[in-house]
Parts: sequence; C-alpha cells; structure tokens
Amino acid sequence: MHLPKAELHLHIEGTLEPELAFALAARNGVDLPYADTEELRTAYLFDDLQSFLDLYYALMAVLRTEDDFTELADAYLARAAAQGVRHAEIFFDPQAHTDRGVPIGTVIEGLGRALERSEETHGVSTQLIMCFLRDKSAESALETLEAAKPYLHRISAVGLDSAEVGHPPAAFREVYEAAGALGLRKVAHAGEEGPPSYITEALDVLGVERVDHGLRCMEDPELVERLVAERVPLTLCPLSNVRLRAVDVLEDHPLPAMMAAGLLCTVNSDDPAYFGGYAGDTFRAVQEALGLDREQLRTLARNSFEAAFLDHDEERRARYLSEVEAYAFD
Ligand code: ADE
Ligand code: ZN
Repeated sequence: MHLPKAELHLHIEGTLEPELAFALAARNGVDLPYADTEELRTAYLFDDLQSFLDLYYALMAVLRTEDDFTELADAYLARAAAQGVRHAEIFFDPQAHTDRGVPIGTVIEGLGRALERSEETHGVSTQLIMCFLRDKSAESALETLEAAKPYLHRISAVGLDSAEVGHPPAAFREVYEAAGALGLRKVAHAGEEGPPSYITEALDVLGVERVDHGLRCMEDPELVERLVAERVPLTLCPLSNVRLRAVDVLEDHPLPAMMAAGLLCTVNSDDPAYFGGYAGDTFRAVQEALGLDREQLRTLARNSFEAAFLDHDEERRARYLSEVEAYAFD
C-alpha cells in the first residue's frame, strides 16, 4: 500500500532476505548450514521470540564489511520506498556484530553511507537508532555507548531489544541516563512478550519517549489510561506478533481495540524478511484481516509521522502529514 508513512520499528538486520544472505555468504566465504534459499525459508517457522532470535543472530554471520551493511540498508530502503515509506527510523544491534569481531565503526559507517544518500536515492529520510541487547549485561551496553561516541553524529536515539522475558528495563538505567546526557532520544521494546510492568518501567526508569510493541499494555487498564493521557506512541508490529505467536491469528490482533481506546498506535514491520511483509504489506494485511477503513489507515499513517523524531524539522513533518491528508486510496 502506497499510503505515505513513517516506519519507526524496523531492525535493519531483520531485512536480510535469504537471497542477499547467500550472496554475502559466498562473497565472504561464510558457510551457512542450509543448502539454498528454499531450505533456509523452511526454518522461518517460529514458536516464540527466542526461536526467531536464534536464527536472526546466526544469519548475521554473513555481514562482515562496510559494503555488506551498505547493501543491506540500500535493499531495505528501496523496498520501503516502493511501499510508501517516506521516513524510516532504523534500529541496529551493534553488539551482535562487535561480539563476532566486526568493529562498530564498520557497522555504523556502512549503514550511514546508505542512509545519508537515501533521500536522494530513494526519497526516504532516515535516522538510526542504536539498540542495546537486553540479554547481555548493563556493562556491555555502557561499553557499546562508549564505543559509539565517535559516530554519534549518525545516531538519533537508543533502544533496547532482544529476549525480553527475565530482562526487565531497569538494569539499563545508567546507560539510558548517559545516552540522554549525550543528546540521544530514547525508546525501548516493552510488552511484546514481557508483562505490562516492563512498559511502566521503561517509561519511569529509562525515560523512553516511545514504546516498541507495547502490545501487552491492554492487560492493564490503568496503564492504557496513562499511555493515552501522555500520548505515548506505540510502535506495533502485527505480522511479527502473529509469527512469534504473541497473537494466534491476525484477525485476533488488538490493534482496533487499541485505536478505539485512544492509544497512539503505529504499524510497522519489525523484521520483514522473516515475518512476511514490509510496511505497505503490513498496512494491507491489517486492513484486510481487521477490516480497517480508509480513515483508520490514514490515522495510522498520521500517527507514524506524529510519533517520528522530527522535532528538529517540523517543516518536514508538516509536509509528510499533508501527503497523508492528500492521499487518494485506489
Ligand atoms: N530483535 C529483532 N526483532 C526483535 C523483536 N521483535 N523483539 C525483540 N528483539 C528483536
Ligand atoms: Zn522489534
């Protein structure tokens, strides 16, 4: 669907399509434990977040050089642009690469090269969000922030991702404080598989401005009331929720109830190479499965630009919002 939109929850490593994975494996002399792309695709049946993360981290072995990261980001931006994405705030997982011996500068400069020319090449404005892996230590997160200091001009915000249950946000208070002092914005995954209390903790202890997923807030009416009152954006990922079994089928997704409750919902693709759809595919899928009408879709698109970190460029936000209002559904 071409409706203009911002993508605010997108892991660049989760855009690694099997074809590119095999091409990079051949180029870099990396052995993949799958015969071909078809066999690899048969591994894309997940029971939960962890079973996905195991494959997601394993496949990253093919990403080694600056060019690899540039190619990965370029491929995503081309696909996103073709599906109406006008602005993308892109997550990356530095520790998943530095732990394999790939320097953080290789990752950031490689991604940065694609991102800095994206507006010209793809018509998509971009920002980069550096995520800490919550199943690693707080010390490792602090070391990562320190290592990223020479590259902060390329980074807008910090995030928190990976295995959620058993890894509550509070452990990362210090690194979020340090990131805030460096002028970085703050988001965190919370309430994907973890309980509503993790959402509250991300807001109160980490000071996040947006909650990634936030799906399980619906179990706590007082929390919903707070999120509505404070207009905290939620970056929902409905196709991801189905594939990782947070919801049984897309038809059962609480998105319509969340919108009706007054929550500031956005719809995003999370890890599109793994979950069966990029941004436009995701909008189309929720439209069909949940019966969203055109005005509800327009509201989701409007929300995406309202929740974007565009405070330094309100003119751009206004331009994107006017594109949403002017969009004629076909
Ligand atoms: N890393 C990549 N995708 C993720 C997700 N959906 N949840 C947590 N960490 C992730
Ligand atoms: Zn995510």
